[in-house]
Amino acid sequence: MSDPASSSASASAGDVASLSTEQLMHDYVLGNYGRFPIAFERGEGVWLWAEDGRRYLDFSSGVAVCALGHSPKVMVDALAKQAATLIHCSNLYWVRKQAELARFVVETIMGRAGKVFFCNSGAEANDGLIKLARKRAWEKYGADSGKNVVVTCRQSFHGRTLGGIAATGQEKVKIGFDPLLPGFLHVPFNDPATLREAVNEKTAAILFEPVQGEGGIHAATPEFFAEAAKLRDEFDLLLMFDEVQCGAGRTGDWCGWRTILDGSGVEVEPDAVSWAKGFAGGFPMGALWVSDEHASVLGPGTHGSTFGGTPLACAVALAVLGEIEGAGVLANVKRQESRIREAVAAWDFPVLADLRGVGLMLGFVLDADAMARIPDFVSSGKSPSLFVVNASRDTGLLTVPAGETVVRWLPPLNVTDAEVDEALALFHGVLSTLSGR
Ligand SMILES: Cc1ncc(COP(=O)(O)O)c(C=O)c1O
Repeated sequence: MSDPASSSASASAGDVASLSTEQLMHDYVLGNYGRFPIAFERGEGVWLWAEDGRRYLDFSSGVAVCALGHSPKVMVDALAKQAATLIHCSNLYWVRKQAELARFVVETIMGRAGKVFFCNSGAEANDGLIKLARKRAWEKYGADSGKNVVVTCRQSFHGRTLGGIAATGQEKVKIGFDPLLPGFLHVPFNDPATLREAVNEKTAAILFEPVQGEGGIHAATPEFFAEAAKLRDEFDLLLMFDEVQCGAGRTGDWCGWRTILDGSGVEVEPDAVSWAKGFAGGFPMGALWVSDEHASVLGPGTHGSTFGGTPLACAVALAVLGEIEGAGVLANVKRQESRIREAVAAWDFPVLADLRGVGLMLGFVLDADAMARIPDFVSSGKSPSLFVVNASRDTGLLTVPAGETVVRWLPPLNVTDAEVDEALALFHGVLSTLSGR
């Protein structure tokens, strides 16, 4: 029995209403996240309301999740209708909504023949890609070939499962979890020559994010795509894209790599792709697509997930993706990106070094030297990105840090002109204050 006087036993079932969210979080929820001290209780579109009644302009979207904002009608209606009809049935049976959603992925998102598997998160989708690559090489070349290495990039992020942290090119996610899953090699992002040096007959796949998100909003270059595709052909490996953060419309096209390669003269298509985050607008869902050529690798009994592709999840994803397709949302992404870029181009703040990114996946890059001249920042002990994210939140604008120096804007894809203008005004105010103006 726990000691009734200890904090973890302080709330009996009867008195929970009298306890603050902060207290409940502290007493009962695992402390694995660094959290900002706010609890939201309601959301509508781009707006969130905290428990103290304060309203926030949410340009984080649950870290690129709420593609259509908070509680959009199209999602609420789809949820309610499907929940009242059929929430779950196992993958022992045909699932109509799953098949319809897979068709949407193949016909509309990819526009290429292939097959789709549904799961519940980005890490899980990437685990599926890793299994696909290994099994495909094992079937074709045999266990003795040793062709099982997946080459990924430094500063990448592929999730928190054992497969995800092994694939991720950042040491901080791996510390303490040895032995890590073997068979991964990390190369510098956007360095075609080093990629070529790393790849050999043992390589089963190359996996990278077309736009690195957690690593600080870096888009892959056409040269990097082109070299990866060449190596695919030379070494018979799979080229796999992690579109968990940059996919499903965030760049202004269904596929992030097509936005980047558009007009570059380079044309590259992957063998497999993963999605999650905004794919179902906030309903937990991950997915992977594999080209027809390799689809038979994951045959009966090779892979699965109890909750993968339920009628409820698929109905919601269909509604969200259908809205993105039908309501001009992709065009809005590009238009709002241009409006933001145009406005920011006229700003002149020493603390702002750059604005980079694709579509509505934008990174404001802070100048660490200029930040170091701000006494409040220096005494805060925070990273530049966290300091500016906190300052923005104080003004009512929610953003997300990426690494030490990048502040991410990830607004809903259907964000309006007025909402973008308001965010620009708030962020301009933050940078003005920092600059002592
Ligand atoms: C590119 C990328 N891949 C994978 C993941 C992991 O997704 P999840 O948290 O849904 O497992 C993330 C999450 O941030 C991501 O940005």
